[in-house]
Amino acid sequence: MKLLRETIERIFDNPDVNSVHETEEFADHFLGLLNEGQIRAAEPDEFGNWTVNTWIKKGIILLFRYGKTIKMTESHVYKFYDKHFFELRPFNIGDGVRIVPGGSSIRTGSYIARGVICMPPSYINVGAYVDSDTLIDSHALVGTCAQLGKRIHLSAASQIGGVLEPAGLMPVIVEDDVLIGGNCGVYEGVRIKRRAVLGSGVILTNSVKVFDLVNERVIQSENGKPLEIPEGAVVVPGSRTINSPYGKKNGLSISSPLIIKYRDEKTDARVALEEALR
Ligand SMILES: CC(C)(COP(=O)(O)OP(=O)(O)OC[C@H]1O[C@@H](n2cnc3c(N)ncnc32)[C@H](O)[C@@H]1OP(=O)(O)O)[C@@H](O)C(=O)NCCC(=O)NCCS
Repeated sequence: MKLLRETIERIFDNPDVNSVHETEEFADHFLGLLNEGQIRAAEPDEFGNWTVNTWIKKGIILLFRYGKTIKMTESHVYKFYDKHFFELRPFNIGDGVRIVPGGSSIRTGSYIARGVICMPPSYINVGAYVDSDTLIDSHALVGTCAQLGKRIHLSAASQIGGVLEPAGLMPVIVEDDVLIGGNCGVYEGVRIKRRAVLGSGVILTNSVKVFDLVNERVIQSENGKPLEIPEGAVVVPGSRTINSPYGKKNGLSISSPLIIKYRDEKTDARVALEEALR
């Protein structure tokens, strides 16, 4: 692993005429480790603090930089073109993953644990980590390097944005037992802590201010760190008044998600995973 890391960092920082060849040499091993979950773009320590593994993101960037765009299929009907490193992720029946037929793609270089269900159409990009028993519903995106925990419900049409460059940026993190409601968007390295619930239609970026009505505080990204949604928070779409004279005159408001409550038994009942589907 140490050698792989040194190779990637050297090629990334000091590219030369051998870089294409050297990238070809490490690509299969590197993608295999990502597929097996032995390496990941970001990971938590024992206290739940996350660190971004910059060298892994650099490795993925090199695959884009030195990949050749090729025709990915033999078919004369279905023609797809992509960088040659990024085949579909290999699976077999023993992996315990359900990929329901119909228009989904999972790029190689992503970890998909046992019990994951991918409804069609959905897309999981390179560097993503999807832990056990998570449900990816139709029209959902798991973007580049996004880190999803266990038993998450990523509802229909929800988008988890990818964060690849610059390599040091934290990807989006969604921790265990979170429910992301339909039509949500989570971007720019935002972290959703355990058991939080995003009501349908919540959009989170690092620029958004979240008003916590329970604890009467404002949650926002500070010192360039990602926005963090607290454990168990139930977030719904909201708005706040624009107080500039022009904003007041025209009665304008701006989107501002609200923590309406913290998860209770009623919320648990509403967001319970449909066992019958599993
Ligand atoms: C957030 C959610 C889980 C409700 O949680 P809950 O704990 O049952 O919430 P409650 O019913 O106790 O609501 C608490 C308050 O928030 C309000 N509220 C709840 N959900 C809301 C939402 N999505 N948007 C706006 N307000 C909402 C309620 O009206 C209530 O207001 P009140 O205190 O003034 O009466 C639910 O609204 C939701 O969005 N579920 C996701 C559904 C979905 O996307 N499914 C995907 C299937 S593919």
